[in-house]
Amino acid sequence: MLPKGTFPEKVYLNGKIVSSNDAKISVFDRGFLFGDGIYEVMVQMENGIFYKKAHLDRLQENLGKIGISYDVNTLESDIPELLKATRLEQESCLIYMQVTRGVAPRKHAYPKGIPPTVMMYALPYTLPYINNKNMKAIVAPDFRWHRCDIKSISLLGNIMTNEAAMQDNADEAILVRNGEITEGSHTNIFFVKDGTVITHPANEHILDGITRKIVVQLCKEMDIPLVETPVSLKEMHTMDEAFFTGTTTQIAAIAQIGDHIYYHNDNMGPITVKLQAALGQLKSLDTSEITLP
Ligand code: PDD
Repeated sequence: MLPKGTFPEKVYLNGKIVSSNDAKISVFDRGFLFGDGIYEVMVQMENGIFYKKAHLDRLQENLGKIGISYDVNTLESDIPELLKATRLEQESCLIYMQVTRGVAPRKHAYPKGIPPTVMMYALPYTLPYINNKNMKAIVAPDFRWHRCDIKSISLLGNIMTNEAAMQDNADEAILVRNGEITEGSHTNIFFVKDGTVITHPANEHILDGITRKIVVQLCKEMDIPLVETPVSLKEMHTMDEAFFTGTTTQIAAIAQIGDHIYYHNDNMGPITVKLQAALGQLKSLDTSEITLP
């Protein structure tokens, strides 16, 4: 039996709502054997699921990247049923979904014609209007693979580097590949230099975060210059501001990376603060049907 209060009491598994205690998947599921699947995390707020369409579009695109044929519209139309069953219809909550290739004898090559395993759950979860926490980060080598654009459920590199940050009493690990800062273990990273916002280009070395896309769009709308180019570890200490983005992190100022201190006490850079306020305002809108380029 799963301890009460720690896990959701009910989950969605392959089209049905089941008690978490009865939710079973095969040990031959390729998600379990190979980490062969894609996941997505989104948050419901007062005005609906924040950028729901954008998250579902990314899920569909990522499933396509690894050749899992599944129509995410099915999952989307079943979200209300899950929220009703878990009494979260009108509540702030986090929605996790994952689709794996399904159950098949263990062979590397993709099996043909098997149904994917589709799982989704929701948990009460409230985000602050603005994330006021000033983050401390460590620097860690980005030893992940070369397809970090895929939102794969195999997250060993991410959890190992995140754990290193926790061991160091930090909040996040900043990953460095070939001398260049890519992203955080579960966030994207932005810098600000002389009024220009700088972030790693959305290529195969980072996950193109939904929050990252929102910030890119906000910069355009607010006439804040933005360039998508990597920042090297050597340049890191010459930057004026740094912040992380992510669905649950939102926009979080980075006070310290390694030994380099950006802000003392609760101070934050002006552009970080401006973008945080703009992101906060988006939450009073219904963004659920907005798509992002
Ligand atoms: N993490 N980069 C990585 C490696 C991530 O795992 C995430 C998200 C992001 C930010 O993406 P988004 O803005 O779409 O949340 C960037 C999720 C939330 C997680 O694994 O829990």
